[in-house]
Order: sequence, then structure tokens, then C-alpha cells
Amino acid sequence: MSATAKKLVIVLGATGAQGLPTAKYLLQNSSGLFRVRAVTRDRNKPASQELAALGAEVVGADYDNEASLADALTGAHAVFAITNFWDKASYDLEVAQGKLVNKLASQLPNLKSYIFSSLPDARKSGNGKFQNILPYNAKAAIRDDLYTYPALASITTEIFVAFYYQNWLKYPAVFGPLKDENGTFVLSMPYPRSTRFPSTSADDTGVVVDSILRAGTKYYGKIVALATELSQQDDMLALWANHLGIKAVFKQVSAQEHQKRMSARMPDHLAVAVTELCENLCYGEKTFGDSKNVISARDMPAKHKQIIPSSYKLKSWEDYVKEEDWSEIV
Ligand SMILES: NC(=O)c1ccc[n+]([C@@H]2O[C@H](COP(=O)([O-])OP(=O)(O)OC[C@H]3O[C@@H](n4cnc5c(N)ncnc54)[C@H](OP(=O)(O)O)[C@@H]3O)[C@@H](O)[C@H]2O)c1
Repeated sequence: MSATAKKLVIVLGATGAQGLPTAKYLLQNSSGLFRVRAVTRDRNKPASQELAALGAEVVGADYDNEASLADALTGAHAVFAITNFWDKASYDLEVAQGKLVNKLASQLPNLKSYIFSSLPDARKSGNGKFQNILPYNAKAAIRDDLYTYPALASITTEIFVAFYYQNWLKYPAVFGPLKDENGTFVLSMPYPRSTRFPSTSADDTGVVVDSILRAGTKYYGKIVALATELSQQDDMLALWANHLGIKAVFKQVSAQEHQKRMSARMPDHLAVAVTELCENLCYGEKTFGDSKNVISARDMPAKHKQIIPSSYKLKSWEDYVKEEDWSEIV
């Protein structure tokens, strides 16, 4: 197929935890079908250079600059859309950015697939207890806005990516086990040690997006959840500690204690948001909402059909732990 006949997939957030593996997976596995335009604010950073070397068209654009984003989206057959709450840790800014992406996507004449990386609305689960998980609330507002564009909504697939394994390294002070004065790593969380919640390697986002794109119209209007592990938290901690030959303990703390610890590191409204986010994890698979509407990328919950190829091995926590470089926190 000639380069121009290949369908153009725009990957937003292409240097990030979800966007980078998405762009790479498409380039490495589906270059016969798709060409990839990778969008970043910084075309010189290593991730951008890596994508360019793999054959991506790397373009500069900023969600806060409408003209740059409109240029970046021109000619799209498909868009992988993601906004990053944590970039400025602002609900209002993330919602404004997401709305702009929706608006510009709705104006694309040849768009056939809009894959929106979102999150469940925690205000509707957890008995209404968690009203302040700002990154989740922002995704809900962006989703509501998306449904004001019926044509765009009709070609949308949402993906819910579970809690990343990478979070211990990406946000160590918030999610990771921290070394105490005795050299023991303590994972302090406002839920019991036996808690099981869905988690995954963010790197596996790529196969999910590729599978949705290859399926054409099949997943229009669906939510696809990427979740790989459902192991107990203390077991995951023990596996990590055994692999590294270190001592680690799980410590359940109250929500108030957790929030106080977070408040030492961030403004109060964010401390509330991350504490509620952690408490919400207690609800395990239910955090993904009504399972009738959610298709699992693989068989979790087991009753759902998988959408990714059966030959693809999603990364287990054990494999991730063995492959990761932990030197930054250990
Ligand atoms: N952590 C989790 O477990 C988890 C799970 C599910 C969903 N999420 C959600 O995932 C989102 C973050 O995605 P991620 O983990 O892939 O983040 P990430 O690794 O921090 O990467 C963020 C990406 O967004 C791009 N970006 C940020 N602000 C931008 C702007 N103003 N204009 C253009 N590009 C911009 C960055 O591009 P540059 O190259 O320009 O920096 C980068 O590629 C959050 O909203 C979070 O709520 C997280």
C-alpha cells in the first residue's frame, strides 16, 4: 500500500505513558495499514526522536493553542485522544483541553474512529462517596461534552486503562512504597492489605488501540477496559520486595491520615483528590462501572470476550517487576 493510501492515525500525548506505546505499537505492528502522526509539545525530546526513528511523523502542537492542534489533526482517519490532568493538576484546564480536542475532532471530514482515553465516573460508584477525584471528574466532563457532538460520539470508543504498574515510579510519593528510617519500604494506603484492584502495564495500551482500529466499526459506542492484574496489594508488594531483596510492609492508614500525608506534598484539594482516588480502588472491578457497558481487552471480568489477539501476552506484575529499573526509588 502506498504511504498516502495508508490511514492516518493521530496519536495525541504521543510521548506519554499511554500515547508512546500506542504510537510504537502501530508503527511496529501495523505500518502496512496505518501511518502515524505523533503529537507532542517537544519534538526534540528522546521519546519524540524514538518515534521519528520508527517512522512517525512527529509534529508539535499544544492543547492550549487551537491553531497548532487543528493543524496536527488535519487529515485524520483516526484519533487517539488523551488529556493529562497532572500536567498542570487543574480540572478546569484539562476540561478545556479535552473540549477543544472534541470540537476539533468533530470538524474532521474523514474521521472514522475517535478513541478517547477516559476514566470511569467515580461519583456514580462507591455509593456517591467520592465526589472529588478531579482527574476522573474531568474525564466525565469531557465525555459529556463529547456527546454534544452526536456524529463524533457515534464513532467513539472509550478506553479505561487501569491503575498503571508504573505509578510506583511515576508518582512515588503518592502511590509508591517509601523507605522509612529503618530502611523498610512502607506502602501506606487507606484500604486493607487484601484489597484487589485492576492494574496493568500502561505499555499494553498500544495493542488495545491497534485492535480497536483494526476492528473498524465494531467497537463504536463501547468502552474497552485494559486491566491485567487483580492480585492482592500485599501479595504484589511482597513479590516486589522479594525480587529486590528488600523489606517491605503494607500499612493501612485512615483516609484522614492519608490525606494529611498528601497535604504535606500538594495543595489540599489535590490531597483530597488522591486520597479519594486511593480509597475508590477498594471497589476493585466495580470502579469500571456497569460491566454491561464495558468490554475487557482480555478476559477480566472473565465473562467478557477479549478484543486483543490471543497470542499477545499482557504484561503481568511479576514480569513488569523483573524488567523494571527500580534504582530511582530503591
Ligand atoms: N496513572 C494511571 O494509573 C492512569 C490510569 C488511567 C488514566 N490515567 C490518565 O492518564 C492521563 C495522563 O496520560 P499519561 O499517563 O499518558 O501521561 P504522561 O505519561 O504524563 O504523558 C502526558 C502526555 O500528554 C501530553 N500533553 C500534556 N499536556 C499537553 C498539552 N498542553 N499539549 C499537548 N500535549 C500535552 C504530553 O506531551 P509532551 O510531549 O508535550 O509533554 C505527553 O505526551 C491523566 O489524565 C490520567 O488521569 C492515568
